[in-house]
Amino acid sequence: MYRTPRSEPLTQPRTTRSDAPAHAPDRTPCLAPNRANEELQSIVLSGLLHKPKRLPCKLLYDERGSELFEKICEQPEYYLTRTELQIMQTFSSEMASALGPDIMLMEYGSGSSLKTRLLLNALEHPAVYVPVDISSSALSASVASLRCEFPDLTVNPLCADFTQPFGALPCALRKPAHALTQPDHARRTVVYFPGSTIGNFAATEAVRLLRQIRLQMGSTGGALIGFDLKKAFGLIERAYNDEAGYTAAFTLNLLQRLNRELCADFDLSNFQHSAKYRHDPGCIETHIISQRDQHVAIAGESVHFESGEEMLVEISCKYSMQDFAELAAAAGLRMDAYWTDPQNRFCVQYLVNSP
Ligand code: TRP
Repeated sequence: MYRTPRSEPLTQPRTTRSDAPAHAPDRTPCLAPNRANEELQSIVLSGLLHKPKRLPCKLLYDERGSELFEKICEQPEYYLTRTELQIMQTFSSEMASALGPDIMLMEYGSGSSLKTRLLLNALEHPAVYVPVDISSSALSASVASLRCEFPDLTVNPLCADFTQPFGALPCALRKPAHALTQPDHARRTVVYFPGSTIGNFAATEAVRLLRQIRLQMGSTGGALIGFDLKKAFGLIERAYNDEAGYTAAFTLNLLQRLNRELCADFDLSNFQHSAKYRHDPGCIETHIISQRDQHVAIAGESVHFESGEEMLVEISCKYSMQDFAELAAAAGLRMDAYWTDPQNRFCVQYLVNSP
């Protein structure tokens, strides 16, 4: 079971850098421009020029962001991880028989691969595990421990943005083609996409992603997807406004990342985290709100924020079974089996190609 880190509230300054609260001055020198932050710069500037301002959620997951996300998952208000883990614990052998033996398991946004361990333990001699994550630090840490825990398993990690077709990776990240294709001894490919990460994409983008998954799994493969169910909205809102402040630190870390990587001068004490449930279509919207009228210098530009201006950084959609069936159908997939918790908070579905 999870403990609340009451002994280490985020509001108290810490001495080590990786535990520093989001609003602590960041002493890391700004990096010189390079290919990676040129790309970051164009993504960020176009988001800041958009009306209303918005930034893509993948930017939240730098090294510090990935650490904070792991903390969010442990918070008492954040029922999602706990509930999904409980579903995986209860039904891992049923899931393993649905997925079948000798599979290639590919995971989108693997992070610490916590839930995957339960699945890997239950699967009948999995052929290969391919964790895909945008954070190289999170990826290498989880791969090292997985290789110790599962010495017989081939682990073939891929540091990539799974929202982009994998073929379009920058050279340094490009894997030899055979690393991504199903090995001969694997019977089928299953894409595992837990954590309700599918909900972080608006419908059109979610369908595009499901179509990409469908291509990757091929005609005989499957997709095991975890998503959050619609429920009393108070419970949902609390999950994204944890009392210890990890979610606020996580969203505001994005500004700190821009200070560091794009030489921006966001003053974090002038911005606030906000997460509110929107009933139609049923999603949490996370905004960073400017607390005053201000200008921020970023990548040679000066960006104006009005007092109270909201910048969208994340959506987190909640689905009914019907909502999700429609999404899957739009991507040419259908549900083969599903598992849920006794309170119907969260759902894990196994999807296959629709005939
Ligand atoms: N996939 C997670 C979710 O939608 C991501 C997440 C959790 C998140 N808490 C967050 C994203 C807070 C942004 C802000 O629940």
